[in-house]
Amino acid sequence: MKVCVIGTGYVGLVTGVCLAEIGHKVLCVDKDDRKITSLKNGRCPIYEEGLEELLERNMDQGNLIFGSDTSEAVGKSEIIFICVGTPPLPSGKPDLTAIDDVARMIGKSLNGYKIILNKSTVPIGTAKRIRKIIKENQVNSQEFDIVSNPEFLKEGEAVKDAFFPERIVIGSENEKAVKIMKELYGPIIRQDFDYARGNRKRKKEVPVLVTDSTSSELIKYASNAFLATKISFVNEVANICERIGANILDVTYGMGLDSRIGPRFMRAGIGWGGSCFPKDVRALSYTAEEYGSPASILNAVIQVNNQQRFKIVQKAVDLLGIIDDKIIGVLGLSFKPNTDDTREAPSVTVINKFLELGAEVRVYDPVVKDYPDNLDRGAVFAGDAYKALENADLMVLVTEWEEFSKLDFNRIKNIMSGKNIIDGRNYLDKKALKEIGFEYVGIGN
Ligand code: UDX
Repeated sequence: MKVCVIGTGYVGLVTGVCLAEIGHKVLCVDKDDRKITSLKNGRCPIYEEGLEELLERNMDQGNLIFGSDTSEAVGKSEIIFICVGTPPLPSGKPDLTAIDDVARMIGKSLNGYKIILNKSTVPIGTAKRIRKIIKENQVNSQEFDIVSNPEFLKEGEAVKDAFFPERIVIGSENEKAVKIMKELYGPIIRQDFDYARGNRKRKKEVPVLVTDSTSSELIKYASNAFLATKISFVNEVANICERIGANILDVTYGMGLDSRIGPRFMRAGIGWGGSCFPKDVRALSYTAEEYGSPASILNAVIQVNNQQRFKIVQKAVDLLGIIDDKIIGVLGLSFKPNTDDTREAPSVTVINKFLELGAEVRVYDPVVKDYPDNLDRGAVFAGDAYKALENADLMVLVTEWEEFSKLDFNRIKNIMSGKNIIDGRNYLDKKALKEIGFEYVGIGN
């Protein structure tokens, strides 16, 4: 099928590359010319395992091309994916300017029946809004259908999630559109494309849920909000553990053995961040408020998460006393491992607070080498973990990158001037570190 993907951000690029890999002809467009030039040269603007290789291969085979002319791309395609950003406004309401612009452009460029798919996480009702804008801008009366098809990709595992999804949600009331969608995703539903044969994860067919567009839009928000709730809940229990002398690792293990609860997404820590959870939980809370059903649980979930970051600073004060002039080595900047994404990363809040309190902060992340937008420029980047920890009074692990578990902690003990470790992810071997002589502080552990 001829597919066009509008927006080559995280979701758009992964979607485009993966659709090409399962045999479609994909044209990805973006209004950012620099990004398109770089992609045309085979350079992947994001760090995502396996993506660059698939990008190169599909470009070489002619299944994947990049361009800047959205109107032309719409004209040439049967299926149009909208994958543009919906950043939050200060109120928490998502900004739909980019979606509206694209819908106007699609309306003007329709030249035959097309399916317009919304993959961006959008406020409830956006499918209907897109339909209305396209209709208002149509120059002829070509038929079209709008489908809500939320993505559930995790950063760092996006390629795997795209090829081996746990479900495909199709939000459409139109049988013809649903049939075409099932054809589009056929190889993924059946798991019979080459990549799946080589990397088989799922033996059975992928479940497909067909529902109305509003329910489909809510499935995405409610899923992310539920996962964020799970983490905030566990973090709250971790804080109780600290007060009463229990161990969160045993508590969550014990809870997770109940199949109704499950063991996943139960890791206590410094809290959730990233490009999805913070934005989506706020947006759902905003929608709930707007429709007269205030979301008390969601508001508490956000509050617990905001407080959790400052628990690290409190722990540092408990260990060091006055922070002024202390040297703190921070390991990890990205909001989670295996990504270079620092959006809403807890690291930024924590480092800024340390600097505000007068500490000297040295930071090392295996992948992030530039200052995230909101990070105070007073933080100093170190070339490796050891350099970040030279003469440090305190080490704070913020992101659980695998290389941090392999550090030589005997060496670290010799180069640090203090012996304090705060493990914001309960990731390191507490027992081993204590044996070496470190003062180890985890989260509820
Ligand atoms: C999330 C959803 O998982 C994905 O389905 C959706 O499409 C986009 O949002 P992502 O933001 O990439 O994906 O990250 P994820 O791996 O879900 O982690 C989100 C945050 O929760 C991270 O900050 C992570 O550190 C934190 N987290 C996760 C915990 O603190 N504890 C856990 O047990 C799991």
